[in-house]
Amino acid sequence: MKILVVGSGGREHALAWKLKQSPLVRQVFVAPGNAGTAKDATNVPIAAEDIPGLVRFARQEKIDLTVVGPEAPLAAGIVDAFQAEGLRIFGPSRLAAELESSKVFCKHLLRKFKVPTAEFWTFDQAEDALRFLENRGDMPVVVKADGLAAGKGAFVCDNIEQAMHAVRQIAIDKIFGQAGNRLVIEERLHGPELSVLAITDGKTIVTLQPAQDHKPAYDGDQGPNTGGMGAYSPTPLIDDATLHWIEEHILVPTVHAMNREGRPFLGVLYAGLMLTIQGPRVLEFNVRFGDPECQPLMMRLRSDLAEILLAATERRLEAIEAVEWDPQAAVCVVMASRGYPGSYEKGHPIRGLEEAEQLPGVKVFHAGTASKDGQIVTAGGRVLGVTALGETIPQAKLHAYQAVKLIRWEGAWCRKDISDKALPYLTGAAPVYRPPT
Ligand code: AMP
Ligand code: GLY
Repeated sequence: MKILVVGSGGREHALAWKLKQSPLVRQVFVAPGNAGTAKDATNVPIAAEDIPGLVRFARQEKIDLTVVGPEAPLAAGIVDAFQAEGLRIFGPSRLAAELESSKVFCKHLLRKFKVPTAEFWTFDQAEDALRFLENRGDMPVVVKADGLAAGKGAFVCDNIEQAMHAVRQIAIDKIFGQAGNRLVIEERLHGPELSVLAITDGKTIVTLQPAQDHKPAYDGDQGPNTGGMGAYSPTPLIDDATLHWIEEHILVPTVHAMNREGRPFLGVLYAGLMLTIQGPRVLEFNVRFGDPECQPLMMRLRSDLAEILLAATERRLEAIEAVEWDPQAAVCVVMASRGYPGSYEKGHPIRGLEEAEQLPGVKVFHAGTASKDGQIVTAGGRVLGVTALGETIPQAKLHAYQAVKLIRWEGAWCRKDISDKALPYLTGAAPVYRPPT
């Protein structure tokens, strides 16, 4: 098969790297890719948002399967455009992608089908939202823009002043543009967070092993939210019984709900969950692989990803063999540019990549990198996802940071505590989470 991966981040590098290992796959193209995908696959200079350009390329090259990394082209209807041309593509249709691209749609669906999530209220007018907050008094809330905001559209508020400020920023100042035309105000929940991703063809659900992201920029979950500063898998927060509970009470009803709404969902269903004392609650759904969760998952996946994604597009997931995982743990540490998640410089030469990759069990996934005059230089905020395997989570962490130490550029930094959230569960200081019965 010839495969096209759409996107240019660490997630897309991990997908291309994994797909390339399949005996079914002859060639992998990445559009537009980065300096890492240029080594492990073939880059094509077409932007991820250029849907007509991508359709044209897929037709000319006779691409057998296209895999979409980021949410923007899915929300813009890339899957519908490919299917209209008879091209095979893995991902949800535009209408199904609204599960991520409209929080208002998602929350109403969850309420209607009784999928556990935070209590919520939706608004089209800033004044109505402000009046609502005044009447509620000092209830802790989270204020969210309806549309896509690169993971930055949720404001977790401690008091009414913060909540009103968030409403004004989203709905009056329009800091996320049109994404702020509608608002969701949610009750604020408490508990550890977890990412559970599943591949579904709309009938069968193949749940992947749980992972945990680290959204805040700095150690100890301090600082502004980012796209994700690191991830690890598996996580000891939950056991198989709870994963099964999540499948049964969250994933299956959501896939069913999408069918009932006439928006059958095919693709990656990514549940961002909070494990509250009342039970697991959906914070949000994404409709694609998480970045950086995808990197440790691909390191651990033993089954043939191409075979699974192909089966999904042909709606025969029920017939595939059980997915196999490396029992080792994987930790991915994101190395970022100085200034990220604010503005940052680009173009700094990166050194030490080859030494780092020579360490056993280490793979350096590229995100914001480019080739310039024969050198690999920084080209984004999140630059690399240094990923390593280990017998245990602490060993995988050690290997990942040994590799990180070998890599340098001006202004490089990373969180030093990726995967430490697992420690209390590993030592027994924290009990494994269980939903109330
Ligand atoms: P979202 O984009 O909806 O996933 O929200 C981004 C982040 O905001 C989540 O990863 C949580 O840390 C936090 N968050 C979202 N919703 C809630 C909630 N209802 N209660 C507490 N924290 C939340
Ligand atoms: N890592 C969070 C996301 O991909 O949205």
